[in-house]
Amino acid sequence: MIALAVVIVVVGGVRAFRQGELRFDRIDPQQGTRIYQRNCAECHGADAEGKDRAPPLNPAGHAHHHADWELVMIIAEGRGGLGRMPAWKEKLSDREIQAVVASIKTLWTEDQRRFQQEINRARPAPP
Ligand code: HEC
Repeated sequence: MIALAVVIVVVGGVRAFRQGELRFDRIDPQQGTRIYQRNCAECHGADAEGKDRAPPLNPAGHAHHHADWELVMIIAEGRGGLGRMPAWKEKLSDREIQAVVASIKTLWTEDQRRFQQEINRARPAPP
């Protein structure tokens, strides 16, 4: 039950986050999966298994080591490391980004979801 709640409830939107206000919204992981397939699969793989420089987002990767707000920020703002992770804030709404995060969470194992819950508690979004 807790795991299900984790899957369907993801911490606040990007803009809400910038305003220092975290919201819990009901979101649809299936919508997130559709958005993922359209926008992310090309680099991260159809099953989020990772490809070239784009890391896996499935249980093989370490995406579950990020708090919800960190995942939202990485997706919204993009990130340059070894490879280039594009920013999505101009193309996807806050809700769409949250839906993608919810969809990614459904890929993780029960243990990984529990672990990430702990990270959420240990590393809340900065004010
Ligand atoms: C053009 C290729 C490309 C596309 C398209 C892309 N990504 Fe990425 N993504 C990357 C790369 C490369 C990295 C690693 C960046 C780095 O080196 O830090 C990354 C990193 C990430 C991370 C951090 C993973 C971790 O374990 O730290 C997340 C989360 C992520 N991407 C989600 C997404 C989502 C969701 C989408 C679709 C909305 C998406 N990406 C679309 C290339 C892409």
